[in-house]
Amino acid sequence: MSIRARLLASFTLLLVATVLLFTAAAFIVTTAVTGDVRGISSFYNVHLRLKPLTTEQETLFLDLKHLAKTKSEELLVPDIYKEYDFQLKVAKASLLIRKGSGSAFISPALAENQPEAVLPPYEAENVHMRSTLQTGKNFFGYAKYDFRFADGEQGRLFVFREVSPFAVLMSKLLPLFVSVLFLLLVGSNIYIYLFLTRRMIRPLNLLRASAARIQRGDLRFRIEPGEDEIGQVSAAFEEMRGKLQESEELQKQYESNRKELIANISHDLKTPLSAIRGYVEGIRDGVADTPDKLESYVDIIYSKAEEMDHLIEELFLYSRLDLNKVPFALQEVDLTRFVADVVYELRFELEKEGVGLETGGHSAGPLHVRIDPMHMKRVVNNVVGNSLKFMEGPHKTIAFDLRRDGAAAVLEITDNGPGIDPAALTHVFDRFYRAETSRNRESGGQGLGLAIAKQIVDNHGGSICAENASESASTRHPQTGTRIVIRLPLLKGNHTDEKNSDH
Ligand SMILES: Nc1ncnc2c1ncn2[C@@H]1O[C@H](COP(=O)(O)OP(=O)(O)OP(=O)(O)O)[C@@H](O)[C@H]1O
Ligand SMILES: [Mg+2]
Repeated sequence: MSIRARLLASFTLLLVATVLLFTAAAFIVTTAVTGDVRGISSFYNVHLRLKPLTTEQETLFLDLKHLAKTKSEELLVPDIYKEYDFQLKVAKASLLIRKGSGSAFISPALAENQPEAVLPPYEAENVHMRSTLQTGKNFFGYAKYDFRFADGEQGRLFVFREVSPFAVLMSKLLPLFVSVLFLLLVGSNIYIYLFLTRRMIRPLNLLRASAARIQRGDLRFRIEPGEDEIGQVSAAFEEMRGKLQESEELQKQYESNRKELIANISHDLKTPLSAIRGYVEGIRDGVADTPDKLESYVDIIYSKAEEMDHLIEELFLYSRLDLNKVPFALQEVDLTRFVADVVYELRFELEKEGVGLETGGHSAGPLHVRIDPMHMKRVVNNVVGNSLKFMEGPHKTIAFDLRRDGAAAVLEITDNGPGIDPAALTHVFDRFYRAETSRNRESGGQGLGLAIAKQIVDNHGGSICAENASESASTRHPQTGTRIVIRLPLLKGNHTDEKNSDH
């Protein structure tokens, strides 16, 4: 449930509850104050009118009624009416006997309420025998019987039972009702408050604390995302924190790589430069006193200068690729043939290094792609150069595989070297990045070879990635080592050819 829906539900509930409680409270207060309760009190009165007396009182009334019917004179005998009055008093009722226009007997408790003034009119048919009446503040239910005495005078018999009118009842219960309503209101408010706090305020506080931590530069924590809007904010926040942490770590890595690069470049330039200086001094001082010696000195100077040139060229190429300043002479090429040519050229060097060559997967047929062959050759050379540099052990092998994958041509170059740490796999294409394992090696370069390769492949609209050969299910290749996978988009016509050849 979203917070908006939750808020809507909470406040609708609150509104309905408040209105209901308010109405109920207003009703009760009005009733208590004015005593005027039409709706409910009339219902209460009707019930009383139909059944004004309790069973016990009713029995006594029926006895009295029987007496009035048969021996009405006995009702005037003090012993008899006092006995009945006593019994009625025990049953919490009172008695009124009238003869003509005066009262023959009235229970003392009843007398002070003076009910005579509000008695219903005489009614020989006795149709309305049971009803209620009110005198002053008191409210009674009664049963009556109208008859005639033997001397022909009107006789009336009433049994009264005092009951609390609704208003009186309400005023008695008012404190209880008000307390219950108040507790309900407080309870519902507390519930809504806790509900909102738990769902909204707490995660917001957490976010605020997290923002403060980030501000202090502390990125090493995690925010648990939830499902509602605040949860989504938390998730976005967490993503931002993750990215910041990642970029901070990357930045550190770059920074240390950059420092190392400068140190390496200085060292790499200084070594051949001092050698050149040494040999030039040798010539100047006349150490190279024979033409043969002189020639070998010059050769050394030349090769050292070439080494320096190569290093500078690599750096220069990378920065030009980075700035998109390298022109690409794209042409349509069959990748199968291109790879075969490159492998042919590499053959001698690999043989010299004692590296076995596998070219098993060349059965893909022509794969037409648009590439700059010179630059693509550099990509392959950089990858193969790495394999040569990092492979150890007696049985070194490099395998070239070519295949079609949908609209792409895929070239895989696999070696059986030490492989790359899984955590470093995605970073080896970053400029100046060198995996931990090769960092301290003599053989380690500047970390530019794969970055340059990636720039070139990207410029062709393709992609390049590294995997560990052991992850592959293939049994043809060794279970360790590095696989570099290069994907290049196939030309449209070639794509159709492929479909035809598949059938
Ligand atoms: N075939 C491989 N086997 C093991 N590690 C590899 C292999 N290829 C690349 N790497 C790792 O990836 C890192 C980056 O390779 P990259 O070619 O970009 O740099 P480099 O070879 O160290 O330097 P440069 O190519 O500039 O001389 C290497 O330092 C190495 O740790
Ligand atoms: Mg390299």
